[in-house]
Amino acid sequence: MNIDNTVALVTGANRGLGRSLVDLLLARGAARVYATSRDGKTPHGDPRVVPLQLDVRDADRTRAIAAEARDVRLLINNAGSLASYSTIDSDPAKLRDDLDVNYFGVLHVVRAFAPQLVAQKDAAIVNVLSIASLASMPALGGYAASKAAAWSLTQALRGELGKQGVRVHAAFPGPIDTDMVRGMDMPKTSPEDVARAILDGVSAGTDDIAPDPTSKDVLATYLRDPRELERRFAS
Ligand SMILES: NC(=O)c1ccc[n+]([C@@H]2O[C@H](COP(=O)([O-])OP(=O)(O)OC[C@H]3O[C@@H](n4cnc5c(N)ncnc54)[C@H](OP(=O)(O)O)[C@@H]3O)[C@@H](O)[C@H]2O)c1
Repeated sequence: MNIDNTVALVTGANRGLGRSLVDLLLARGAARVYATSRDGKTPHGDPRVVPLQLDVRDADRTRAIAAEARDVRLLINNAGSLASYSTIDSDPAKLRDDLDVNYFGVLHVVRAFAPQLVAQKDAAIVNVLSIASLASMPALGGYAASKAAAWSLTQALRGELGKQGVRVHAAFPGPIDTDMVRGMDMPKTSPEDVARAILDGVSAGTDDIAPDPTSKDVLATYLRDPRELERRFAS
C-alpha cells in the first residue's frame, strides 16, 4: 500500500508507538489520520489529525467511530495492555484485562471497520502484536496469551478478509522504549524506529513484519523451529 495520500486510523495514538505511527504517517504524506485515544484528546498541531475518543473494549463506540471515519484505508490496531504477568500468580481480573484489550479490542475495531475496508479498492490492517505472540514468555504469560490470541485472530482475518482485498499485516515488535516496559532493564528499540519499520513493511506488502533486531531474530527462529523459540523463552 502507498502511504502517501492515504487515510489511516491508529488506536492508542496518544503516546508510545501509536504516537510515533501518527507522526510518521503524516511525514509520509497521509491525507488524514484519525488518532484515537481513551480520552479523545491526542493534541497535535497538524490539521490532518482528527482526534477521536475510543476505548477499544467498547464495541458500541467502535461502531460509532466507524460511522464517523468512513474513508479509512489503513487501520492500525496499536492500542495494547500489559496488565498481567505470570499465569499462575496474576489476578484473574488482570488476565482478563489483557484479553479484553489485546484480543477483543482488536476484534471489535476490525468488525466495525471490515465492511468499509472491503469496499475500498486497496485497504490494509496492521495488528501490532509482539514477539510474545509467537511463543510464550512465562514471566509475561498472561500478556503473551492475549497477544497469541491476537495472532490467531490475524490469521483468521487473512482468511476472511484477504480474499476480499484487504491486506492483513502482523507486526511482532520486541521490546520498545515506551511506558509499557519503562521499568524493565533490557535492550529496547525506539518507537520511532519501530514505527518506521512497520510502515516500510506496509509499503512493501510484507505480511509478517519484524520491526527491530530482536524480532528479526525471533521471527527467523519461529519460522525455522517453533519449539526452539518456546525453549528459549521459557529458559
Ligand atoms: N513496549 C513494548 O516493549 C512492546 C513490545 C511489543 C509489542 N508492544 C505493543 O505495541 C503496542 C503499543 O504499545 P506501547 O509500547 O506504545 O505502550 P504504551 O506506551 O503503554 O501505550 C499503550 C497505548 O495503548 C492505549 N490503550 C491501552 N488500553 C486501551 C484501551 N482499552 N482502549 C484504547 N486504548 C488503550 C494506551 O492509552 P492510555 O494512554 O489511555 O492508557 C496507550 O495509548 C501495544 O499493542 C503493545 O502491546 C509493545
